Amino acid sequence: MVLARNLGPYATTAIGLGCMPLSIEDHPSEEVGIETIHAALDAGCRHLDTAWAYYESGGEEETNEKLVRKALESWNGPRDEVSVATKVGHYRNFTDNVPTWDVDGRPESLIKHGKESALALGVDAIDLLYFHRPDPKVAYNESLEGIKALLEQGVAKKAGVSNASIEQIDMAREILGSDFIAVQNQYSPIYKDTQDTLDYTAKVGLNFVCWSPLGGYRKAKDETKFDAFKAVAATHGVSYQQVVLAWELAKGDHVFVIPGAHRPATILDSLKAGDLKLSPEELAKLG
Ligand SMILES: NC(=O)c1ccc[n+]([C@@H]2O[C@H](COP(=O)([O-])OP(=O)(O)OC[C@H]3O[C@@H](n4cnc5c(N)ncnc54)[C@H](OP(=O)(O)O)[C@@H]3O)[C@@H](O)[C@H]2O)c1
Repeated sequence: MVLARNLGPYATTAIGLGCMPLSIEDHPSEEVGIETIHAALDAGCRHLDTAWAYYESGGEEETNEKLVRKALESWNGPRDEVSVATKVGHYRNFTDNVPTWDVDGRPESLIKHGKESALALGVDAIDLLYFHRPDPKVAYNESLEGIKALLEQGVAKKAGVSNASIEQIDMAREILGSDFIAVQNQYSPIYKDTQDTLDYTAKVGLNFVCWSPLGGYRKAKDETKFDAFKAVAATHGVSYQQVVLAWELAKGDHVFVIPGAHRPATILDSLKAGDLKLSPEELAKLG
């Protein structure tokens, strides 16, 4: 059993699969991608995280959403138990031949991409649609109006914001009302700058979803931040990644984690983190 938690109205799992690595640069084959999603679902994971922009720079848009749809359609388990979250507001580009993530937060673009996301996922309405990242060229409230239109038109059932400050979260509370259920921000032992938003979401009754909860799929700049987690892991005989995820989940019942994976083995290990009980002394040591 994977630790169960309610994400707004969805009875789902606190540990979801972050699907991004399955279709951006250095992704595995489609076959391994589907195998990885199936392995997670078979093990009890009921939360998948994708985005309109999870495709390779220069490649076919929405590859990841299409992969998620294919995996769900070819899975023999209870599809209606799985909550799928996606995001709009980013697209891929190149800057000096390097793959980049550009933003387009114009309401008309968000509405267009939201509708495309629903089509790519093969659903009438998206379970949870995030505004992916603020666009400095567009007033935040204007972008939120685009997300609100998608809720009103029934393209999305619930909404969230990602990479958002407390001020932006408050704007979303005002504009999106009770359909606003989650904030997805970066949070891990190597990135705690968003601690204020993790605390604030608890206070105002929102869910907090940690992205790159293991520090990202690229090697962390400062690996020493994981030393204390490695020491605790050794005493429990588990991977330090499980300790990191268990530590994040212990920050509050409103917290979710979406570890990424390129293969079944890593997500299968991560899904066990909900069973790992860390003592108050261990949690205090980990910070
Ligand atoms: N909202 C946003 O702006 C935003 C931005 C970035 C990411 N995200 C979301 O967050 C998700 C996770 O982020 P991420 O993929 O960048 O990084 P991550 O979850 O911090 O790390 C993923 C890496 O950790 C490894 N890993 C996972 N579980 C492991 C385990 N139990 N033992 C050993 N290694 C393990 C994976 O290894 P393998 O490669 O060997 O499988 C993968 O390379 C993404 O998939 C995406 O859905 C959102």
